[in-house]
Amino acid sequence: MEKRNQLYEGKAKKVFETDNPEILMVSYKDDATAFNGLKKGTIAGKGVINNKMSNILMQKLESQGIPTHFIEELNDRETLVKKVTILPLEVIIRNIAAGSFSKNYGVPEGKVFNSPTIEFSYKNDELGDPLCNSYHAVALGLCSKEEIETVKTYAFKINELLKDFWSKCGVTLVDFKIEFGRLSDGTIILADEISPDTCRLWDSKTGEKLDKDRFRRDLGGVEDAYNEVMKRLNENI
Ligand code: TMP
Ligand code: ASP
Repeated sequence: MEKRNQLYEGKAKKVFETDNPEILMVSYKDDATAFNGLKKGTIAGKGVINNKMSNILMQKLESQGIPTHFIEELNDRETLVKKVTILPLEVIIRNIAAGSFSKNYGVPEGKVFNSPTIEFSYKNDELGDPLCNSYHAVALGLCSKEEIETVKTYAFKINELLKDFWSKCGVTLVDFKIEFGRLSDGTIILADEISPDTCRLWDSKTGEKLDKDRFRRDLGGVEDAYNEVMKRLNENI
């Protein structure tokens, strides 16, 4: 597979065309941003960890019936993925109150929900990724009614699978953000990444934060946290 033109550079990844029009190459960077790019930094080695972690988790999900964009890991930072049109929706599932949920609703971080919640944000940096519901998403033309139902079903199933898996690693899956894409034949598949950048992961025993909140909140020990969750994952695959 030959790497061709760069298609896109995002906050944490670059995407390249390949000699196959159906296949893209993703390259993970160490760059980190928060608060819609207002805070900028680097997390040494993050790109390698996010690449490997996302690939491991996507393969696990795929084996449990969730279609994903993963094709093949090429090296530490680069992976081949199926080309999709990304639905401009951030899909957020929460098991425990934290972050914007705690802030918006005045609920202390750590409150465990009886059942998970789902929410959507319209992916639009200029508008600051505003929250929207499934009707808004359809009205905005981001996806069809059928597609949003598929996304919901997959998102809750992904949550159950990831929650169980992380719990075997001694890690509590607090919440996470995923994105879906549409293949040229219309099939909806899981795309983007699943990593400590996009999940809240707490040590099940101590509650220690092992994710990007260490960077967002200047808690220190950012690299150590990424290395620790990756180590836990490697010990349990
Ligand atoms: P929030 O509590 O800030 O809304 O974040 C919920 C989850 O989504 C958390 O696991 C972090 C993740 N997330 C992203 O991956 N990208 C983003 O731009 C934001 C705001 C959150
Ligand atoms: N990556 C996002 C940004 O820079 C936000 C975040 O993960 O907190 O806006």
